[in-house]
Amino acid sequence: MKDPFQQLKEEKVFKDPVHRYIHVRDTLIWDLIGTKEFQRLRRVRQLGTTFLTFHGAEHSRFSHSLGVYEITRRIADVFQGRPHWDNSERLLALSAALLHDVGHGPFSHSFEKVFDTDHEAFTRAVILGDTEVNQILKRVSLDFPAKVADVIGKTYQNKLVVSLISSQIDADRMDYLLRDAYFTGVSYGHFDLERILRVMRPKEDQVVIKQSGMHAVEDYIMSRYQMYWQVYFHPVTRSAEVILSRILHRAKALDHEGFVFQETPQLLIPLFRGEMTLADYLQLDESVIMYYFQRWQFEKDPILADLCDRFLTRRLFKYAEFSPSNFNVYVELKDKFKEVGIDPDYYLIVDSSSDLPYDFYRPGEEGERLPIHLLMPDGRLRELSRESDIVEAISGKKRTDHKLYYPADFLEKAELPPQLKQDILKLLNK
Ligand code: NI
Repeated sequence: MKDPFQQLKEEKVFKDPVHRYIHVRDTLIWDLIGTKEFQRLRRVRQLGTTFLTFHGAEHSRFSHSLGVYEITRRIADVFQGRPHWDNSERLLALSAALLHDVGHGPFSHSFEKVFDTDHEAFTRAVILGDTEVNQILKRVSLDFPAKVADVIGKTYQNKLVVSLISSQIDADRMDYLLRDAYFTGVSYGHFDLERILRVMRPKEDQVVIKQSGMHAVEDYIMSRYQMYWQVYFHPVTRSAEVILSRILHRAKALDHEGFVFQETPQLLIPLFRGEMTLADYLQLDESVIMYYFQRWQFEKDPILADLCDRFLTRRLFKYAEFSPSNFNVYVELKDKFKEVGIDPDYYLIVDSSSDLPYDFYRPGEEGERLPIHLLMPDGRLRELSRESDIVEAISGKKRTDHKLYYPADFLEKAELPPQLKQDILKLLNK
């Protein structure tokens, strides 16, 4: 059996556009990267349907996972030899960083909504189940896979290790913000990672930031705020997401009705029928999904065929602002859509997004978050929003946005009764 702590004879490096190089010295990490479960992440995009809005956003969860590993590795280097940091946890932190997204499926967000799957549960299953990843982790010790799963699941007893990967300033967020900004090509989203790494310190069960690094952290918080609204919740991306989820709904509904597909979607049947095993799940990636969409463009079901064509040729839905307090408008619209022969279940969709950019600790509240603490020169800790006016201004401010998506091209069709058409456009405020 290989020595789990063995170092590679020669350091391996990956060229990376965000971190320049990703360094691997541990055999264990190198072997985990080579597993088929980890390699599958090359075929899952980090940002789902965002490439239909920002064409550069084709980067994969593979590259993000390597990036999170690299940031964690560098933090561990900064922490080495400092009080509160136990260097025997290093390999655990690195493994958890590398594997934190290993259970993501293709187009995770839509998939989870439509099929009620959960990528966190699958991440756990990949780490603990009958997989190559599990075999390699077990070289360290029989309970090592469970420890890695607990770090990712945030239940591990050493919260300092957990906070490297999940907190309000962690390796995961720092990598995806920089990476997503780079690949989308937007000018926000950048912040000084080098500086933040230099001012991070282990302090009991959390990572704190030296006060002198406060402005770099402000930049990071603002970049997150900008990225959410400019990139992640972009209304056009959401339109593609809406269509994607309708396709999956339609295909599943057709299968339940006993519809005979021209070609049986073998790889998706277990998903449609809620009897998916881990092995079935690991067969799925975005090339599989895109393959079925290609085929379904030519299916006899007009809704499925139309939605797939829309997704592949980017004939997306248009949107109108929507306020949930005007729910009667939605109900009225639904009736009118039915009158003109457009199925509202597939062609009139409300989508909501919301984000909380930063929050301090509010005990007992749902989703309570551990705050970012500054380490003052006298050794005291101060919560970030008490020191930073910029962060205070956006702390705890939850913003929600609702939109109503519909196929504008259908409404332009000549054969629609003009009065009905007018009524619909008026209800949509168009
Ligand atoms: Ni991640």
